[in-house]
Amino acid sequence: MSIEIRQAVPTDAPHIFSIKQAVWPSETSEDQAVSYIADIIALPNHAIRLAFIENVPVGFIDGFMTHTLDGLPRWEVDLLAVHPNFRGRAVAAHLVALSGESGRIRGAKFARGLVEINNTASQQVFAKCGYDLDDQIHVLYVGPGRLTDGLVPNPENTLLTPVQTINYRGIWIEGDYNKAGFLAGQALCNEHRWDLAGAVIPTNHIIGVQTAQELGFTLVGHYQWWKRGLA
Ligand SMILES: CC(C)(COP(=O)(O)OP(=O)(O)OC[C@H]1O[C@@H](n2cnc3c(N)ncnc32)[C@H](O)[C@@H]1OP(=O)(O)O)[C@@H](O)C(=O)NCCC(=O)NCCS
Repeated sequence: MSIEIRQAVPTDAPHIFSIKQAVWPSETSEDQAVSYIADIIALPNHAIRLAFIENVPVGFIDGFMTHTLDGLPRWEVDLLAVHPNFRGRAVAAHLVALSGESGRIRGAKFARGLVEINNTASQQVFAKCGYDLDDQIHVLYVGPGRLTDGLVPNPENTLLTPVQTINYRGIWIEGDYNKAGFLAGQALCNEHRWDLAGAVIPTNHIIGVQTAQELGFTLVGHYQWWKRGLA
């Protein structure tokens, strides 16, 4: 049974929605979700790939370009899912390999994927695709946008990245994880009227974790980065 993989187009949104529902069931309105996914597929900085086995859509991956604090082009392997009935047939391994290729073609210097510490299946997939595990454990915190009086300056050593993913629109906060950085991220999130501001903070960054908690951010889970050079 051969796997075929192609770039998704906006009319594939119902396929992605149904795979996503099979993997992470939710009560979202189908029409709304499909129209949202179609918008994300159309974004020029994304490469969403869809896998088929005998013409049945069985898995997808989303990747998109961001930049590091130092301005290095970086490929985010953001969301990967394979329908439960089609697992263990190397669909994910093919999707991850091709996503990295999309990043390389677009000039990314490296690719990274954030994997929950107990997600053995995903860890195996990244390992198989030549990604290296960053031993440091991180906590993912998310918070809402925050209304502020006037402009909040973006502090030095803070990177605020507006992202539109298959699951949400939001601001990623990176860098020093100080209070000014979190507030600037929340203000930017509010300005866009987006869903959330998020930070992936090393567990040993005590001040960063405390600040996220003080600002009412919610802990999502414990994660590790998997990275691979693309040059
Ligand atoms: C993670 C996921 C995408 C893997 O999809 P898949 O198509 O079954 O994975 P593959 O068949 O390509 O497997 C690649 C490698 O990982 C290993 N692997 C896959 N699932 C595994 C599991 N549950 N336990 C141990 N190893 C596993 C495979 O054995 C294979 O290694 P091998 O070639 O040495 O045998 C799928 O399990 C999934 O959709 N999970 C839920 C969503 C999710 O966790 N997404 C990732 C978020 S970061």
